[in-house]
Parts: sequence; structure tokens; C-alpha cells
Amino acid sequence: MQFTGKTVFITGANRGIGRALVEACLSKNVGKVYAASRKIENLPPFNDPRVVAIKLDISKNEEIKKAAEECADTQILINNAGILNPGNILEGNMEGFKKDMEINCFATLAMMRAFVPVLEKNKETRIVNIASIASYVNFPFIAGYSASKAALYSVSQAARIELSAKGIPVHIVNPGAIDTDMNKGSTMDMTAPKDVAESILKAVEDEIEDIIPDKIGRGMFEVWRKSPKELEDLSKKMYFGK
Ligand SMILES: NC(=O)c1ccc[n+]([C@@H]2O[C@H](COP(=O)([O-])OP(=O)(O)OC[C@H]3O[C@@H](n4cnc5c(N)ncnc54)[C@H](OP(=O)(O)O)[C@@H]3O)[C@@H](O)[C@H]2O)c1
Repeated sequence: MQFTGKTVFITGANRGIGRALVEACLSKNVGKVYAASRKIENLPPFNDPRVVAIKLDISKNEEIKKAAEECADTQILINNAGILNPGNILEGNMEGFKKDMEINCFATLAMMRAFVPVLEKNKETRIVNIASIASYVNFPFIAGYSASKAALYSVSQAARIELSAKGIPVHIVNPGAIDTDMNKGSTMDMTAPKDVAESILKAVEDEIEDIIPDKIGRGMFEVWRKSPKELEDLSKKMYFGK
């Protein structure tokens, strides 16, 4: 699979990983990128005629419907938009937890539901969902976020199985820690969004279904692969500051 000449739709394209994905797609010589953002005026100047700005809040069904109608030539849908409300599971803010579930799981699912009929009509189509390494283990300081990403991972697996009958691959990306606004203030040695975006596109081209695009994510995934309990213990140590 090659990105060359393809039409790609990216949510949350105004900053962080989404913005870097737009730039990486342009470097891969895509034909067109629909750069979707809640506020068009927040999109950076990509200075490239192949970029088409789309106003899209994925929590608004009418905006999703309009985007699917307007962008009917989409071949690759990248569901990148996401939010993180910190908090633990027993005392954390329930509203924040519900919002994480709403955006990261249900709104992303709404995007898939709206765009699958579009993808079915076009050639060489696929979906790329940005979940998180938190799909594999819950990090108690971001417990609701972790649960929402585990839900997205599961929902994406269901879509992957269903869409295999239609020849539409579904990639699930599970990053560890990336240097974006989402991790503002963190002192971790994080991967840059540019490197992550390039790593994601390469893995999609290589037809890798489950993608861990950064070093912290890969380290944690290796622990999980050996023993899920060991990753849970690591998360426990992180939570209690050990
Ligand atoms: N950074 C990490 O370490 C990390 C690790 C694992 C997974 N991820 C995932 O990677 C994705 C991108 O995150 P990021 O690190 O680039 O974070 P970010 O810099 O906070 O960017 C989040 C993006 O999502 C958009 N967004 C949020 N709610 C939206 C909505 N209702 N409708 C449309 N767009 C919405 C934001 O738009 P506004 O500017 O309008 O708010 C922004 O463009 C997320 O799904 C995140 O969970 C990140």
C-alpha cells in the first residue's frame, strides 16, 4: 500500500499528532488531505493547495454527516482527535470520564459509521484509529482516559473483523508518550509528533494492523507481550511514585 496519490481525511488536524500527520502525508505525495478541525481558524497555514480545511467537531453528528457528504472521495480515514481528562477511577471527576468515553470511543465510532459507506464506494480504502498504549493497561492517574482507549481498541477490533469482509483494513495505533499539548509539563523523554506521524504512515504502508509508533510505547508493549500482569505492576509503581 502507498500513500502516493491517495485522499486522506484526518481529524484533530490543527495541532499535535494530527497536524504532524497532515505534514507527513504531504511529504508522502498524497493527492489530497482533508484537514479537519473544530475551528478552521485554528488550522496552521499548511501552504499547500492539496490541503482542504474542514470544520468538524466529532461530537456533533450533523457535522460528521456533512463532512462525509463533502469528502466523498476519502480513501484513508485517520481518526486522530481525542481528549484526556486526568483523574483516578474512584474519586476522579465522572463528567471528565464520560467526556473521554464520548469523544475517544463513541464519537470516533460515529466517524467510522458515517465514513464506511464512503470508503465502500472508493478504491483502496482503509481506517486508521489512534488509540493508546493505555488500551493494554490502565494508568490509574488517567483511569477514565485509559478505559476510553481500551473501549476504542475493542470497537476498532470489531470494525476490523466486520470490514475484513469488504476488504477495508482497520489499523489501530497505540502510542506511548508523544511530545504534544496532551502531555504538557511532562518530563518524560517523549517522541516528537513528526517522528510518530512518519512512523505511523510507514507502518500503514507496510500493512501492520496494530501499530506502536514510539519508543516508550514499544517498551511497554514488550513488557505486556511477555506478561500483561508485569505491565500492570509497572503501572502500579508509576501510580504510587515508585
Ligand atoms: N500525546 C500522547 O502521548 C498520546 C499517546 C497516546 C495516544 N494519543 C492520542 O493521539 C491523538 C492525538 O493526540 P495529541 O497528543 O496530538 O493531543 P493534542 O495535541 O491534545 O490534540 C488533540 C486534537 O484532538 C482534537 N479534538 C479534541 N476533541 C475534539 C472534538 N470533539 N472534535 C474534533 N477534534 C477534537 C483537538 O482539537 P482542539 O484544538 O479544537 O481542541 C486537537 O486537534 C489523541 O487521540 C490522543 O488520545 C496521544
